[in-house]
Amino acid sequence: MMKEKLEQIKAEALRQIAASDALEKLNEVKVNYLGKKGELTAVLKGMKDVLPEERPKVGQLVNETRAEIERVLEESVKKMEQMVREAKMKQEVIDVTLPARKNNVGHRHPSTIALEEVERIFIGMGYEVVEGPEVEKDYYNFEALNIPADHPAKDEQDTFYITGDILLRTQTSSTQVHEMEKGKLPIRMIAPGRVFRSDEVDATHSPSFHQIEGLVIDKNITLADLKGTLAEFAKELFGEGTKVKFRPHHFPFTEPSAEMDVTCFKCGGRGCRFCKGEGWIEILGCGMVHPHVLEMSGIDPEKYSGFAFGVGLERIALLKYEIDDMRLLYENDIRFLKQF
Ligand code: DAH
Repeated sequence: MMKEKLEQIKAEALRQIAASDALEKLNEVKVNYLGKKGELTAVLKGMKDVLPEERPKVGQLVNETRAEIERVLEESVKKMEQMVREAKMKQEVIDVTLPARKNNVGHRHPSTIALEEVERIFIGMGYEVVEGPEVEKDYYNFEALNIPADHPAKDEQDTFYITGDILLRTQTSSTQVHEMEKGKLPIRMIAPGRVFRSDEVDATHSPSFHQIEGLVIDKNITLADLKGTLAEFAKELFGEGTKVKFRPHHFPFTEPSAEMDVTCFKCGGRGCRFCKGEGWIEILGCGMVHPHVLEMSGIDPEKYSGFAFGVGLERIALLKYEIDDMRLLYENDIRFLKQF
């Protein structure tokens, strides 16, 4: 009777072990059959109803059943643990053939690269880099540069006025006046900075852009110094083979004045699509500082002379990097900027 009951318990326990599909289930079986309130314990508690001479035999039977269930249970737990570990390893597998994630490292804007290149060239020639205010008095932007009250540049169509007398500078030439007023001679400076004009945005215009002003004042400065300096600048910026050409022009603050062209660095001057068949590309305005301009800023034109020039920074960047639309420089689209 007892033996049959034990066989039954064992068979049922083993069946449940075999049907377990998780460690928790196996633990349940353990508690239900081997635990303090489990089936086998209940059998042991019923020993008082067994005849005394039968007890050792029944006790041995219970122990054997218990040992068998424990053995099968332990084996199953080990198998189950192994399966769980393998499943986890499959899930967490590291694919060493995957390309590494790239770090996004920022870098300089093409306009900044061009500016630093220009600065490097002039610093190499002994120039100082200075800055002037973007909000200016009419006097510094116009009057002290010989630009008369009725000059078209002073029209509100071209200039952003803050009050009748205060404006956003339309040219970095205003820094010439600030430097001359300091009264420290000689002067050899470039002044990069933002300028403002009331222009509509298109491929070559923006209401805010950048210029680099240059000014040299010393004794015995001549047109030859201007030409030599700017020819060297062009060579360093666009390549050793670059030639320059000066075309007479008019600027109120220089006399004589000129515009400087460089031979197209794409075709070497033969004419191509890039220079529109001209062979030459206009690059800057320049001239000998007007004696009246020197005088207004307290410099004696009998003792001193000088030259000045003004370059558009965006124009340099567009040329150097063959960009055909100025707006790309302001949009800050990383896909575009990444190329430089
Ligand atoms: N300020 C001029 C402009 O905005 C450029 C320029 C021309 C600057 C001749 C100069 C110069 O210093 O000598 O168009």
